Formats: sequence, structure tokens, C-alpha cells
Amino acid sequence: MAAVVTGIGGYLPPSAVTNDDLSRTLDTTDEWIRTRTGIRERRVVSEGLSTGELAVRAGARALSSAGLSGVDALVVATTSPERLCPAVAPEVASRLGLGTIAAFDLTSACSGFLYGLATAAGLIESGTADTVLFVGSEAFTTLVNPADRATAPIFGDGAGAVVLRRGQPDEPGALGPFDLGSDGALADLLAIPAGGSRQRSASGGLGHTSVPTEDWYLRMEGRALYTQAVERMTQSAQTVLKRADWSVADVDWFVGHQANIRIVAAVAEELEVPEERVAVNIDRVGNTLSASVPLLLNDYAARGDLKAGQRVLLSAFGAGLSWGSTVLVWPEISAEPVD
Ligand code: UT7
Repeated sequence: MAAVVTGIGGYLPPSAVTNDDLSRTLDTTDEWIRTRTGIRERRVVSEGLSTGELAVRAGARALSSAGLSGVDALVVATTSPERLCPAVAPEVASRLGLGTIAAFDLTSACSGFLYGLATAAGLIESGTADTVLFVGSEAFTTLVNPADRATAPIFGDGAGAVVLRRGQPDEPGALGPFDLGSDGALADLLAIPAGGSRQRSASGGLGHTSVPTEDWYLRMEGRALYTQAVERMTQSAQTVLKRADWSVADVDWFVGHQANIRIVAAVAEELEVPEERVAVNIDRVGNTLSASVPLLLNDYAARGDLKAGQRVLLSAFGAGLSWGSTVLVWPEISAEPVD
């Protein structure tokens, strides 16, 4: 038995922020952002749009792609939850008309899509669910300091979703073996210090006013992360290729987390995947964390570049630190452009 991808969908908030827009308020330039990251613009949530709303819209599209109106379980991967409590997934399930199904959130930053896929596949393989809707949804720009030029240009908002169903390991869409890993010793390389139980208990409980504003925002050690990202994604991708018994020459598309065009290119070079088989959309969306990989898959599938029968290698890396990879043969499914 295997978990098989049977639908895909994505959603981007309509509001686009270009590099030139950012350079009006930040000490940065379009040239710096483009050459250092590959990003030209990113989408950001505006009033009325939040992690849950993005998830509902992407989830509805994935259900429609799968031709389903119901599933047995819903998993939402997010590192920008609407509230600390409760999880957003039950509300998303309710708003999608999915009833009282199993629904929960999962947090694994930019590797959230890979961790979530493995979890959703586990629900199917354990016999807990026959069908699962899995959404990576992020309104992460709300957690980034708009005055910090080191992080503000990097991130964007959006959601991507897949529907999984029970099937056979040898059919197209079947998720291959996974490689997942973490290194919590390096947790502080990418973290938001305030807002959780550690800061609340240290500052004497609720209602404290002593937390510096910047502690509510993301802190990132870009250089150190860069090195880790290249190393971990390369190793993880190599591990999963070996487990799947695929060679690099078998890979039609390398679909890597869009953190930085230079990271994606460096991993592809290490793996020896030629440039024309490397999927990229960071120029239009930035780093959308757990939505990154499904949005990229949706983009390539919607415009026909990713075709049924092609072999895909997925890999991601992010805060935690955490990383993951898997492989699949792309199935015959419909995909709509996000906008
Ligand atoms: O999603 C997974 C987790 N995240 C990542 O994997 C991110 C990994 N890191 C990166 O992508 C890159 O490290 C960044 C894009 C964040 C930064 O690029 P970099 O080439 O590593 O630049 P840097 O941080 O070493 O900074 C180089 C220079 C510095 O100036 P000095 O010290 O050389 O004078 C920075 O102050 O660029 C400066 N700088 C900027 N200049 C203009 C930093 N941010 C900006 C900016 N505009 N936005």
C-alpha cells in the first residue's frame, strides 16, 4: 500500500510587493535582492487574508483537482499559525465542508511540506485514512520585521495543497521513500524569540511589556543557514535517491525548496542535476516556507512543464534545523494556474 498524489492546488494572495517597493522603505536595492536571492517580487497577505484563508483557497483547488468533495483527514503545515491555540486545520476543514474529520497542524518551517507529506502518507499507510488533504500554508510576512533588510526581502505568503489517496507503490503519484532529519543544536540560526511559553514564563507570565519589539520578529543568521541548507539538502536528496534506487540521470525535475536561487543552484550542482531540470519560481513568490514546494509543483504542472510520467525529486530545508526529501513519478492530474 502507498500514498498516491491525486490532486494539487495553490493560492497566492493578490498583493505583490516588488523589490523596488521594498527599497523605498529599506536600505536595499532591486539589484542586491535579485542577485543575492533570485527574488523579484513576493505576494503578501492583506486584510482578511490569513494562514487559514489561504489554506481554504488552496485546499479547495486541490480537492477540485482530485475530483473529491470529501476526505478522511486534513493536515496543515504552517509556521505562521493564526493563533498559538488552537490549530487552524479544524477550522479549515469546517470551512471546506469536510465535516468532523481528523484535522491538525504540523510545524516544521521550510521543510514543513516534506514532513507533512510523510505524516499524511503515514495516516494512509497505517489504515487511519483512505484520503488526506494536506496543505502548506503561510502568512509568514506577518512575522518578519518590515524594518530588517536582512529578512524582509526574503519571504512571501501563499499556500499549496495536495490530495493523497490510498494506492499501490508502483503506480504514478505514489510517494517514494522519505529522508527526514533535524539538528536542534542549531535552532537559533532561524528563530522568533518571543510569543511562546519560553518567553512568557521567563518574563513572568502574560501581560508583560518588557519584551523588545524585535524579539517578536524572525531572527536569521543568513550565512550559516546558507551553508547548512546546501549541505543538508544535498545529503538528504542523495539519501533518498539511494533508497528509491534512482540515479541522478533518472530525475526529470529537481523541485527544491525556494529559499534562495543560489542555494537551489548549488544543491543541483552538487547533485549534478543539469540546470534545465531544476524547477524555479522564487523570482515571483520568494520563500513561502511550507507552501514553497507545492506551489512550485503546481506552477510547473499547470503550464505543462511537469508532465505525467516524469520523475521528480523533492527536497527542502529550514528552521529547526530540519530537512527532508522524497521522490515520485508525476501522476496524470489536472493543475490550474494560481492566478
Ligand atoms: O528557508 C530556509 C532558511 N533560510 C535560508 O536558507 C536562508 C539562507 N541564507 C541566504 O539565503 C543568504 O545568506 C541571504 C540572502 C539571507 C543573504 O545573502 P548573503 O550573500 O549571505 O549576504 P550576507 O548576509 O553575507 O550580507 C552581505 C552584505 C552585508 O554587508 P557587508 O557586511 O558585506 O557590508 C549585509 O549587511 O550585504 C548586506 N545586506 C544587504 N544589502 C542590501 C544584507 N541584506 C541586504 C539587503 N540589501 N537586503
